Amino acid sequence: MKIIDGKKIAENLRTKIASEVKQFSRPPGLAVILVGDDEASQVYVRNKSKACVEVGFYSDQIHKSANITEEELLSEVTRLNENQTIDGILVQLPLPSHIDSNKIIEAIIPEKDVDGFSSENVGKLMQNKPFISPCTPKGIMKMLASIKCELRGKDCVIIGASNIVGRPMSMELLNAGATVLVCHKDTKDITNKVKTADVVIAAAGVAHLVKDDWVKEGAVVIDVGINRLKDGSLAGDVDFNAVKDKASAISPVPGGVGPVTIAVLLENTLTAYKARLIDS
Ligand code: GUN
Repeated sequence: MKIIDGKKIAENLRTKIASEVKQFSRPPGLAVILVGDDEASQVYVRNKSKACVEVGFYSDQIHKSANITEEELLSEVTRLNENQTIDGILVQLPLPSHIDSNKIIEAIIPEKDVDGFSSENVGKLMQNKPFISPCTPKGIMKMLASIKCELRGKDCVIIGASNIVGRPMSMELLNAGATVLVCHKDTKDITNKVKTADVVIAAAGVAHLVKDDWVKEGAVVIDVGINRLKDGSLAGDVDFNAVKDKASAISPVPGGVGPVTIAVLLENTLTAYKARLIDS
């Protein structure tokens, strides 16, 4: 059984990006907007900014109060759309309930939408002509490539149908030639569906949901969950200790999908930077 080392994959990607950045006259710039004081979001945003600095990017961290109006947040996005030192804009989700997240996502120009959440970028991924694609699914494809997991003709089961992970993941896997099943909270007999999978992607947000009797012998298991337990520790969506002896490869939490997602965000920012250079 292989443990897929997300930290190592992320480090390799950052090294590659940093060596490219050294040759540029202006650094790629990423703006991250955080609204409110959600603790998990604060940690994610801090990690994203830290990764930016590490590869030589310019990082602009913008913290707004939870009381900000939708209009004020929209004008912040517009300001960043027009700022020539900024190549990528990321608004950390979730946003407070009085703000329409979709409106904010669509306000970011697709050229700077480094999350790949805008309808234009989602549409391109869906047509198998990706420009900037969502970071977590793209990172998972790199993790699968790192263990030489051939996806053509494989049966993949995704648990979770979010816009951030499940849905774009289904497109990535389909584009790679896999047969894809997306399960969600209304799916019947999920255990037996997951048992058919050569590759399982667990992105339900439920700690230790996937047990060993859900997983086929030799399956590849990717754990996207980051769940905070009562004792303060982090747990994935997969019962790692039970599943590890059944899987041929498995990603841990922490040290799996998380660091790769952040490294892909840097890669997406670099893609946006280069595309803007060509256009200008
Ligand atoms: N919240 C959880 N994951 C993400 C992500 O990938 N991007 C943004 N913007 N917010 C998130």
